[in-house]
Amino acid sequence: MQMLTCKHISKKYEGDGYALRDVNFSVPAAGIFALIGRNGAGKTTLTRILATQLSPTSGSASINGIDVMSGAGSLREIIASVPQEARAINWLTPRQFIFSYLLWRGYGHGDARRKADEAARKLGISRFMDTASRKLSGGTKRKVLVATVMASEASVIFLDEPTTGLDPLSRSELWDTLSRLKKDHFIFLTTHYLEEAERLADRIGILENGRLMALGTLDELRGKVKYPYSIKILSDYSVAKPRKGNMIKGVDGFQQIVTTEDEANRISRELIKKGVRFSMNPLSLDDIFYYIVKKPLEEESYGDEKERY
Ligand SMILES: Nc1ncnc2c1ncn2[C@@H]1O[C@H](COP(=O)(O)OP(=O)(O)OP(=O)(O)O)[C@@H](O)[C@H]1O
Ligand SMILES: [Mg+2]
Repeated sequence: MQMLTCKHISKKYEGDGYALRDVNFSVPAAGIFALIGRNGAGKTTLTRILATQLSPTSGSASINGIDVMSGAGSLREIIASVPQEARAINWLTPRQFIFSYLLWRGYGHGDARRKADEAARKLGISRFMDTASRKLSGGTKRKVLVATVMASEASVIFLDEPTTGLDPLSRSELWDTLSRLKKDHFIFLTTHYLEEAERLADRIGILENGRLMALGTLDELRGKVKYPYSIKILSDYSVAKPRKGNMIKGVDGFQQIVTTEDEANRISRELIKKGVRFSMNPLSLDDIFYYIVKKPLEEESYGDEKERY
Protein backbone atom coordinates (compact mmCIF):
# COMPACT_ATOMS: atom_id res chain seq x y z
CA MET A 1 0.00 0.00 0.00
CA GLN A 2 1.18 3.53 -0.81
CA MET A 3 1.86 5.91 2.10
CA LEU A 4 0.35 8.87 0.31
CA THR A 5 -1.73 8.98 -2.84
CA CYS A 6 -3.13 12.05 -4.59
CA LYS A 7 -5.48 11.41 -7.49
CA HIS A 8 -6.19 14.31 -9.82
CA ILE A 9 -6.40 16.89 -7.05
CA SER A 10 -7.48 20.35 -8.16
CA LYS A 11 -8.33 23.29 -5.95
CA LYS A 12 -10.03 26.49 -6.99
CA TYR A 13 -10.52 29.11 -4.31
CA GLU A 14 -13.85 30.95 -4.40
CA GLY A 15 -13.63 33.80 -6.91
CA ASP A 16 -9.98 33.02 -7.72
CA GLY A 17 -8.05 30.88 -10.19
CA TYR A 18 -6.80 27.35 -9.64
CA ALA A 19 -4.23 26.92 -6.85
CA LEU A 20 -3.78 23.21 -7.71
CA ARG A 21 -4.22 21.64 -11.13
CA ASP A 22 -4.65 17.89 -11.48
CA VAL A 23 -2.01 16.90 -8.96
CA ASN A 24 -1.43 13.19 -9.28
CA PHE A 25 1.25 11.22 -7.45
CA SER A 26 1.99 8.66 -4.80
CA VAL A 27 4.71 8.16 -2.24
CA PRO A 28 5.41 4.51 -1.48
CA ALA A 29 7.02 4.55 1.95
CA ALA A 30 7.34 6.38 5.24
CA GLY A 31 10.22 8.80 5.72
CA ILE A 32 10.32 12.43 4.65
CA PHE A 33 8.56 13.83 1.62
CA ALA A 34 9.53 17.42 0.82
CA LEU A 35 7.42 19.64 -1.37
CA ILE A 36 9.28 22.57 -2.87
CA GLY A 37 8.12 25.39 -5.11
CA ARG A 38 8.07 29.14 -5.45
CA ASN A 39 5.78 31.47 -3.47
CA GLY A 40 2.20 30.80 -4.51
CA ALA A 41 3.02 27.44 -6.13
CA GLY A 42 0.32 25.71 -4.07
CA LYS A 43 2.35 23.98 -1.34
CA THR A 44 0.24 25.19 1.59
CA THR A 45 -2.98 24.44 -0.28
CA LEU A 46 -1.92 20.83 -0.91
CA THR A 47 -0.63 20.44 2.65
CA ARG A 48 -3.95 21.65 4.08
CA ILE A 49 -5.95 19.29 1.87
CA LEU A 50 -3.85 16.32 2.97
CA ALA A 51 -4.01 17.36 6.63
CA THR A 52 -7.84 17.31 6.35
CA GLN A 53 -8.16 21.10 6.82
CA LEU A 54 -9.40 21.98 3.35
CA SER A 55 -11.49 20.18 0.71
CA PRO A 56 -10.24 19.81 -2.83
CA THR A 57 -12.48 21.09 -5.63
CA SER A 58 -12.02 17.75 -7.37
CA GLY A 59 -9.92 14.62 -7.00
CA SER A 60 -9.12 12.53 -3.95
CA ALA A 61 -6.24 11.64 -1.67
CA SER A 62 -5.43 9.04 0.92
CA ILE A 63 -2.82 8.56 3.61
CA ASN A 64 -1.95 5.06 4.68
CA GLY A 65 -5.03 3.89 2.81
CA ILE A 66 -7.41 6.29 4.61
CA ASP A 67 -9.28 8.77 2.43
CA VAL A 68 -8.64 12.37 3.53
CA MET A 69 -12.29 13.32 3.00
CA SER A 70 -14.42 10.34 4.01
CA GLY A 71 -11.90 9.12 6.62
CA ALA A 72 -10.95 12.55 8.01
CA GLY A 73 -12.13 11.64 11.54
CA SER A 74 -9.95 8.56 11.92
CA LEU A 75 -7.07 10.17 10.02
CA ARG A 76 -6.96 13.04 12.51
CA GLU A 77 -6.08 10.55 15.24
CA ILE A 78 -2.81 9.69 13.53
CA ILE A 79 -1.82 13.05 12.04
CA ALA A 80 -0.50 16.27 13.54
CA SER A 81 0.22 19.44 11.66
CA VAL A 82 2.10 22.72 12.08
CA PRO A 83 0.55 25.18 9.62
CA GLN A 84 2.71 27.83 7.95
CA GLU A 85 1.21 30.71 9.95
CA ALA A 86 0.76 28.81 13.23
CA ARG A 87 1.62 30.60 16.48
CA ALA A 88 1.68 29.25 20.03
CA ILE A 89 -0.96 30.90 22.24
CA ASN A 90 0.72 34.03 23.59
CA TRP A 91 -0.55 33.92 27.15
CA LEU A 92 0.41 30.28 27.72
CA THR A 93 3.90 29.05 28.50
CA PRO A 94 5.29 26.34 26.16
CA ARG A 95 4.75 23.81 28.97
CA GLN A 96 1.07 24.77 29.31
CA PHE A 97 0.61 24.85 25.54
CA ILE A 98 2.15 21.44 24.84
CA PHE A 99 0.50 19.93 27.91
CA SER A 100 -3.01 21.11 26.96
CA TYR A 101 -2.54 19.94 23.37
CA LEU A 102 -1.62 16.47 24.65
CA LEU A 103 -4.59 16.36 27.05
CA TRP A 104 -6.81 17.36 24.13
CA ARG A 105 -5.33 14.47 22.13
CA GLY A 106 -6.34 12.08 24.90
CA TYR A 107 -3.18 11.56 26.98
CA GLY A 108 -3.42 11.37 30.80
CA HIS A 109 -1.76 14.06 32.96
CA GLY A 110 1.34 12.02 33.82
CA ASP A 111 2.00 10.98 30.22
CA ALA A 112 1.35 14.48 28.91
CA ARG A 113 3.83 16.00 31.39
CA ARG A 114 6.52 13.43 30.55
CA LYS A 115 6.06 13.72 26.78
CA ALA A 116 6.11 17.54 26.91
CA ASP A 117 9.43 17.49 28.81
CA GLU A 118 10.93 14.91 26.49
CA ALA A 119 9.98 16.83 23.31
CA ALA A 120 11.27 20.10 24.80
CA ARG A 121 14.60 18.43 25.56
CA LYS A 122 14.86 17.09 22.00
CA LEU A 123 14.19 20.54 20.54
CA GLY A 124 16.54 22.26 23.01
CA ILE A 125 13.84 24.49 24.52
CA SER A 126 13.71 23.10 28.08
CA ARG A 127 14.89 26.39 29.58
CA PHE A 128 12.03 28.29 27.95
CA MET A 129 9.27 25.93 29.11
CA ASP A 130 7.98 28.29 31.81
CA THR A 131 8.35 31.59 29.94
CA ALA A 132 5.19 33.17 28.49
CA SER A 133 5.19 32.54 24.72
CA ARG A 134 4.81 36.25 23.94
CA LYS A 135 8.30 36.79 25.39
CA LEU A 136 9.96 34.15 23.20
CA SER A 137 11.86 34.86 19.99
CA GLY A 138 10.21 33.93 16.67
CA GLY A 139 12.48 30.92 16.18
CA THR A 140 11.82 29.56 19.67
CA LYS A 141 8.07 29.94 19.12
CA ARG A 142 8.44 27.83 15.97
CA LYS A 143 10.32 25.17 17.93
CA VAL A 144 7.53 25.06 20.53
CA LEU A 145 5.07 24.17 17.76
CA VAL A 146 7.33 21.46 16.35
CA ALA A 147 7.86 20.10 19.89
CA THR A 148 4.08 20.00 20.30
CA VAL A 149 3.46 17.79 17.28
CA MET A 150 6.48 15.63 18.11
CA ALA A 151 5.19 15.08 21.63
CA SER A 152 1.85 13.94 20.26
CA GLU A 153 3.45 10.85 18.74
CA ALA A 154 1.22 11.13 15.72
CA SER A 155 2.67 8.85 13.05
CA VAL A 156 2.07 11.33 10.20
CA ILE A 157 3.36 14.87 10.65
CA PHE A 158 2.79 17.88 8.38
CA LEU A 159 5.26 20.73 8.71
CA ASP A 160 4.65 23.73 6.46
CA GLU A 161 7.99 25.57 6.34
CA PRO A 162 9.15 24.40 9.78
CA THR A 163 12.59 26.03 9.63
CA THR A 164 11.66 29.46 8.29
CA GLY A 165 13.02 32.01 10.75
CA LEU A 166 15.34 29.60 12.54
CA ASP A 167 19.02 30.49 12.93
CA PRO A 168 21.46 28.16 11.10
CA LEU A 169 22.36 26.22 14.25
CA SER A 170 18.73 25.69 15.30
CA ARG A 171 17.89 24.69 11.75
CA SER A 172 20.55 22.05 11.69
CA GLU A 173 19.43 20.79 15.13
CA LEU A 174 15.89 20.50 13.85
CA TRP A 175 17.20 18.61 10.82
CA ASP A 176 18.84 16.10 13.18
CA THR A 177 15.59 15.73 15.09
CA LEU A 178 13.58 15.19 11.91
CA SER A 179 16.12 12.66 10.62
CA ARG A 180 15.64 10.64 13.79
CA LEU A 181 11.88 11.06 13.67
CA LYS A 182 11.56 9.87 10.09
CA LYS A 183 12.60 6.33 11.06
CA ASP A 184 9.12 5.65 12.42
CA HIS A 185 7.05 8.55 11.05
CA PHE A 186 5.87 9.88 7.75
CA ILE A 187 6.80 13.56 7.58
CA PHE A 188 5.39 15.79 4.87
CA LEU A 189 7.26 19.06 4.81
CA THR A 190 7.41 22.12 2.64
CA THR A 191 10.48 24.29 2.49
CA HIS A 192 12.20 27.07 0.60
CA TYR A 193 15.57 25.81 1.79
CA LEU A 194 16.54 23.40 -0.94
CA GLU A 195 19.53 22.20 1.04
CA GLU A 196 17.01 21.08 3.67
CA ALA A 197 15.05 19.03 1.14
CA GLU A 198 18.29 17.67 -0.31
CA ARG A 199 19.60 16.57 3.08
CA LEU A 200 16.43 15.28 4.68
CA ALA A 201 13.98 14.10 2.10
CA ASP A 202 13.68 10.58 0.78
CA ARG A 203 11.53 11.96 -2.00
CA ILE A 204 11.02 15.47 -3.32
CA GLY A 205 8.13 16.96 -5.27
CA ILE A 206 8.44 20.17 -7.27
CA LEU A 207 5.28 22.22 -7.56
CA GLU A 208 4.98 25.19 -9.91
CA ASN A 209 1.84 27.18 -10.52
CA GLY A 210 -0.37 24.44 -9.07
CA ARG A 211 1.16 21.67 -11.14
CA LEU A 212 3.47 18.90 -10.00
CA MET A 213 6.46 19.30 -12.33
CA ALA A 214 8.57 16.42 -11.02
CA LEU A 215 8.76 13.92 -8.22
CA GLY A 216 11.38 11.46 -7.12
CA THR A 217 14.49 10.81 -5.09
CA LEU A 218 17.29 13.32 -5.59
CA ASP A 219 18.99 10.94 -8.00
CA GLU A 220 15.77 10.43 -9.93
CA LEU A 221 15.36 14.21 -10.24
CA ARG A 222 18.98 14.46 -11.37
CA GLY A 223 18.10 11.88 -14.02
CA LYS A 224 15.62 14.38 -15.50
CA VAL A 225 18.45 16.74 -16.30
CA LYS A 226 20.56 15.88 -19.33
CA TYR A 227 23.94 16.69 -17.79
CA PRO A 228 24.13 15.55 -14.17
CA TYR A 229 27.59 16.92 -13.23
CA SER A 230 28.59 20.44 -12.41
CA ILE A 231 31.98 22.13 -12.33
CA LYS A 232 32.17 25.60 -10.84
CA ILE A 233 35.16 27.76 -11.68
CA LEU A 234 35.92 29.75 -8.56
CA SER A 235 37.96 32.46 -10.31
CA ASP A 236 37.73 34.55 -13.49
CA TYR A 237 39.69 31.92 -15.48
CA SER A 238 38.21 31.48 -18.94
CA VAL A 239 37.59 27.81 -19.40
CA ALA A 240 37.54 26.15 -22.83
CA LYS A 241 34.28 24.99 -24.34
CA PRO A 242 33.28 21.51 -23.03
CA ARG A 243 33.11 18.71 -25.61
CA LYS A 244 29.74 17.71 -24.17
CA GLY A 245 27.48 19.88 -22.07
CA ASN A 246 26.91 23.58 -21.57
CA MET A 247 28.40 26.59 -19.89
CA ILE A 248 26.09 28.73 -17.86
CA LYS A 249 26.31 31.38 -15.25
CA GLY A 250 25.48 29.41 -12.10
CA VAL A 251 22.75 30.43 -9.66
CA ASP A 252 25.44 31.81 -7.33
CA GLY A 253 27.17 33.85 -10.05
CA PHE A 254 30.12 31.51 -10.72
CA GLN A 255 30.88 30.21 -14.22
CA GLN A 256 29.46 26.71 -14.27
CA ILE A 257 29.89 23.81 -16.66
CA VAL A 258 27.18 21.20 -16.68
CA THR A 259 28.25 18.02 -18.36
CA THR A 260 28.56 14.25 -18.24
CA GLU A 261 30.56 12.51 -15.53
CA ASP A 262 33.35 11.51 -17.97
CA GLU A 263 33.70 14.99 -19.42
CA ALA A 264 33.65 16.48 -15.90
CA ASN A 265 36.56 14.17 -14.99
CA ARG A 266 38.52 15.22 -18.07
CA ILE A 267 37.95 18.94 -17.49
CA SER A 268 38.82 18.66 -13.82
CA ARG A 269 42.18 16.99 -14.66
CA GLU A 270 42.92 19.89 -17.00
CA LEU A 271 41.97 22.49 -14.38
CA ILE A 272 44.16 20.79 -11.76
CA LYS A 273 47.13 20.90 -14.19
CA LYS A 274 46.56 24.62 -14.73
CA GLY A 275 46.14 25.31 -11.01
CA VAL A 276 42.61 26.74 -11.42
CA ARG A 277 40.40 26.71 -8.33
CA PHE A 278 37.17 24.83 -8.99
CA SER A 279 34.61 22.52 -7.41
CA MET A 280 33.05 19.47 -9.03
CA ASN A 281 29.79 17.93 -7.84
CA PRO A 282 26.70 16.13 -8.97
CA LEU A 283 24.06 18.80 -9.73
CA SER A 284 22.55 20.25 -6.57
CA LEU A 285 18.82 20.45 -5.95
CA ASP A 286 19.12 24.22 -6.50
CA ASP A 287 20.41 23.61 -10.02
CA ILE A 288 17.73 21.01 -10.71
CA PHE A 289 14.99 23.25 -9.33
CA TYR A 290 16.02 26.14 -11.55
CA TYR A 291 16.13 23.81 -14.51
CA ILE A 292 12.70 22.30 -13.86
CA VAL A 293 10.80 25.49 -13.10
CA LYS A 294 12.68 27.11 -16.00
CA LYS A 295 13.64 30.20 -14.09
CA PRO A 296 15.50 32.32 -16.59
CA LEU A 297 19.23 31.88 -16.17
CA GLU A 298 21.76 34.20 -17.70
CA GLU A 299 22.96 31.50 -19.91
CA GLU A 300 25.82 31.34 -22.35
CA SER A 301 25.53 28.09 -24.17
CA TYR A 302 28.27 26.62 -26.31
CA GLY A 303 26.34 23.44 -26.97
CA ASP A 304 22.86 23.06 -28.36
CA GLU A 305 21.45 26.58 -28.06
CA LYS A 306 18.03 25.25 -27.10
CA GLU A 307 19.29 23.18 -24.21
CA ARG A 308 19.28 24.68 -20.79
CA TYR A 309 21.49 22.01 -19.23
N1 LIG B 1 -7.75 31.39 1.06
C1 LIG B 1 -7.40 31.69 -0.18
N2 LIG B 1 -8.25 32.32 -1.02
C2 LIG B 1 -7.90 32.62 -2.30
N3 LIG B 1 -6.72 32.32 -2.85
C3 LIG B 1 -5.81 31.69 -2.06
C4 LIG B 1 -6.09 31.36 -0.68
N4 LIG B 1 -5.00 30.74 -0.17
C5 LIG B 1 -4.07 30.70 -1.16
N5 LIG B 1 -4.56 31.27 -2.29
C6 LIG B 1 -3.86 31.37 -3.58
O1 LIG B 1 -3.54 30.05 -4.01
C7 LIG B 1 -2.25 30.01 -4.61
C8 LIG B 1 -1.37 29.02 -3.87
O2 LIG B 1 -1.15 29.50 -2.56
P1 LIG B 1 -0.37 28.66 -1.46
O3 LIG B 1 -0.48 29.39 -0.18
O4 LIG B 1 -0.87 27.26 -1.49
O5 LIG B 1 1.13 28.71 -2.04
P2 LIG B 1 2.51 28.30 -1.36
O6 LIG B 1 3.23 27.45 -2.35
O7 LIG B 1 2.27 27.73 -0.01
O8 LIG B 1 3.27 29.71 -1.24
P3 LIG B 1 4.34 30.22 -0.14
O9 LIG B 1 5.66 29.60 -0.52
O10 LIG B 1 4.35 31.70 -0.35
O11 LIG B 1 3.86 29.82 1.21
C9 LIG B 1 -1.73 31.44 -4.58
O12 LIG B 1 -2.02 32.03 -5.81
C10 LIG B 1 -2.54 32.09 -3.47
O13 LIG B 1 -2.68 33.48 -3.68
MG1 LIG C 1 2.84 28.25 1.87
